Amino acid sequence: MMSPTRTHSKSELEKLSHPSRVSHSSSLAMEQFKGQPRLPKFAVPKRYDVKLKPDLAACKFGGSVAIGLDIVADTKFVVLNAAELTVNAGSVSFTHGGSSKVFKPSKAETFEEDGILVLEFGEMLPIGSGVLAIEFEGILNDKMKGFYRSTYEYNGEKKNMAVTQFEPVDARRCFPCWDEPACKATFKITLDGVPSELVALSNMPIEEEKVNGHLKTVSYVETPIMSTYLVAVVVGLFDYVEDHTSDGVKVRVYCQVGKADQGKFALHVAVKTLELYKDYFAVPYPLPKLDMVAIPDFSAGAMENYGLVTYRETALLFDEQHSAAVNKQRVATVVAHELAHQWFGNLVTMEWWTHLWLNEGFATWVSYLATDSLFPEWKIWTQFLDELTDGLKLDGLEESHPIEVEINHAAEVDEIFDAISYRKGASVIRMLQSYLGAEVFQRSLASYIKKHAYSNAKTEDLWAALEEGSGEPVNKLMNSWTQQKGYPVISVKVKDQKLEFDQTQFYSSGSQGDGQWIVPITLSCGSYDVRKNFLLQAKSETLDIKEFLGCSVGKVGCGGNKDNAICSWIKVNVDQTGFYRVKYEDELAAALRNAIEKKQLSETDRFGILDDSFALSMARKQSFASLLTLLSAYREELDYIVLSNLITVSYKLARIAADAVPGLLDHIKQFFIGLFQYSAEKLGWQPKPGESHLDAMLRGEILNVLAVFGHDLTLDEATRRFHAFLEDRNTPLLPPDIRKAVYVAVMQRASVSNQSSYESLLRLYRESDLSQEKTRILSSLASCPDPNITLEVLNFILTPEVRSQDAVFGLAVSSKGRDTAWTWMKENWEHISKTWGSGFLITRFVSAIVSPFASFDRVKEIEEFFKAHPNPAITRTLKQSIERVQINAKWVQSVQSEKNLADVVTELAYRKY
Ligand code: BES
Ligand code: ZN
Repeated sequence: MMSPTRTHSKSELEKLSHPSRVSHSSSLAMEQFKGQPRLPKFAVPKRYDVKLKPDLAACKFGGSVAIGLDIVADTKFVVLNAAELTVNAGSVSFTHGGSSKVFKPSKAETFEEDGILVLEFGEMLPIGSGVLAIEFEGILNDKMKGFYRSTYEYNGEKKNMAVTQFEPVDARRCFPCWDEPACKATFKITLDGVPSELVALSNMPIEEEKVNGHLKTVSYVETPIMSTYLVAVVVGLFDYVEDHTSDGVKVRVYCQVGKADQGKFALHVAVKTLELYKDYFAVPYPLPKLDMVAIPDFSAGAMENYGLVTYRETALLFDEQHSAAVNKQRVATVVAHELAHQWFGNLVTMEWWTHLWLNEGFATWVSYLATDSLFPEWKIWTQFLDELTDGLKLDGLEESHPIEVEINHAAEVDEIFDAISYRKGASVIRMLQSYLGAEVFQRSLASYIKKHAYSNAKTEDLWAALEEGSGEPVNKLMNSWTQQKGYPVISVKVKDQKLEFDQTQFYSSGSQGDGQWIVPITLSCGSYDVRKNFLLQAKSETLDIKEFLGCSVGKVGCGGNKDNAICSWIKVNVDQTGFYRVKYEDELAAALRNAIEKKQLSETDRFGILDDSFALSMARKQSFASLLTLLSAYREELDYIVLSNLITVSYKLARIAADAVPGLLDHIKQFFIGLFQYSAEKLGWQPKPGESHLDAMLRGEILNVLAVFGHDLTLDEATRRFHAFLEDRNTPLLPPDIRKAVYVAVMQRASVSNQSSYESLLRLYRESDLSQEKTRILSSLASCPDPNITLEVLNFILTPEVRSQDAVFGLAVSSKGRDTAWTWMKENWEHISKTWGSGFLITRFVSAIVSPFASFDRVKEIEEFFKAHPNPAITRTLKQSIERVQINAKWVQSVQSEKNLADVVTELAYRKY
């Protein structure tokens, strides 16, 4: 290594980005490139020849890159990305293509804050093509980004593997490059100095492998034109399973040595999904092979690197004996999601991070399509409502952001991999698809993919394709959903044989926003045979019932029937395909409650009524008591998705009640226990032969909630089964689907004076080599109501026994552990920031620990703490979490002022049906 480059940290100069405005004279000329959202485009990269030499033992790497590029503007500067690399300045050269003249830079500086490398040459570089060559060195870091190391055990020995994770902006940590999604080029990768017994993978198949003693040099076929964030390399010890698609794409799943069987399920899903997407997008999978690899240390869930998809173990491996139904579903949906990106994201890439949602929202949506086709019995589209409700929850905050979000610095990108990009994104796509129709939608998508293949696209390009395919004003319709944050609540009233619809922006805080949307309204009335729809374009609209519905709404809720042509109920947003909430006037709401009891509504509509009512109650547009009354209509509910949401709602309501009306808490818990009795009895503890996937998942969730609310019989039975398991790991009494619930149950009775089950669980944690089992245990440990145990658990997640990606599971603390967790976080903030502070995992600490609070005093305390300990990586999340605390605090106050709540609660809790 020769002279390392100098590093600047502060921007002194005015920010310029256009080549023609570049100053070539000032002595500070190099600094003009700092603080820019995007690189200046003096040069356009075409082809990278990247050589990397990882040293797994010393945790470092050396490398060189030769970048074929076009100089497109007169310049003395070449500006590209590089971060935490030691660039060998003496090695840098630019060779002009025509004349073969070699230019050496007079200066080479990296600016770490912006992740850029600025090269200044002594003379203007000639316009035209040439090759930029750079040598560099770096560290195989332990931060799960850039080029990093992950650890595993082999034959009892600790080993390192080398892995890349480049999205969003970390390719620059591996080699100098134009690290922006629109700067597509081809990549010729070579790995050097690789121990010959290791598996070395990259995006493309191996072209040549040269073994020299016990080291080898592996070079790969050059990639098609692609973005830097999708380049990947993995070097380590692996076993694999292999299969082919019907048109000959070779697919492999790589696992830890000895675990290859656990890759079989994902392999099956991958092969089937590739075939399905080939038809759906009407374009074959663009590469000759697809590898999928389980990586023990991995910060996201999975990453769609072109031809080399990397996963957390929990998202790829399935163990027939020890994995649960929910694990199986996770593997299938994650694989389907990442493979969707091979077309939507990799072949056609967003032009800039502003359009990240095109990648993530779309892949999320289409993963349901694939999963549904492979596993129709999972009724996965009903489970899509989990995406919808999470999207609505985040977007109900004033601190939300539009789907198309302005990005002015690389550091801002991490935080937008959030429920807006993924879940709202997926939901508005679903809304549009159901408005346009599945066939038109697919055809237009195929033409979009074809048109922008090997290139980039913006949101408006997708709308243009759909507009052309459908003849509908898609652009105008969709802009209202992607360019402004938030969504409407539609108020519905019946008056004088007229139906009135009115939209206002919904905020969970109860505030009034002034957004307005073009809303595809759908409704059914009395029966699903009656379906109507229209576009609500204005603030409000009144429709004549007779004309519109062809029937009359005499007195809704009085139980009229179709023969009389009188609607007994009106459900707006049929099947919950729209991204909005609905508020019914009292009489319409009562009719729906009645229809739920009479089992006249679909599971998706039952979900929607519950979810909207919960949200309206939080926003104080509806009383807590009336929400509980609505919940009682679900006492014979058996559907997975509805119960699953009911459980989520009950946890939240119990937490609010604990702050607002502690004296009523036991009654409220009793009410919930009663609500879940019906399904608990139907499901029992033991899996039934041939039972559905959904029942298997539901059993675990129901037992879990009964345990958390302290249902004695559940706790007793769980303890019995837990002990049977401790005696005999093969006992049939603890099948994987109820394991987490049983662990949670035994933790409910753990305390400092009775630590035995806590210690037993720790033993199980240490004993297991299945990541899914480890995360099950981690998330149950935290649920203990004794704050002393909470503290032990929190300290445990900071030890090397917990991989840093998994620590966040231990943050799911009980409401009694809330204060302990906050104090603990403050005390350990420096360590937490250092360990998790350079990725999105740190945001999980803040949201998990801050958002459960429910008082204005806490808001002040939280604000003060973070003012004294600022961290740009959590800017958005902190604001959102604080807003949640404020919403909770207002909700608590309003619940306290509900006069009749005690009467309603006691009546509901002990009512006999
Ligand atoms: N592209 C993402 C991975 C990613 C996330 C990279 C955040 C950088 C920052 C990948 O396609 C993805 O979305 N993974 C999901 C799983 C998916 C099934 C929702 C994840 O990591 O949670
Ligand atoms: Zn994704």
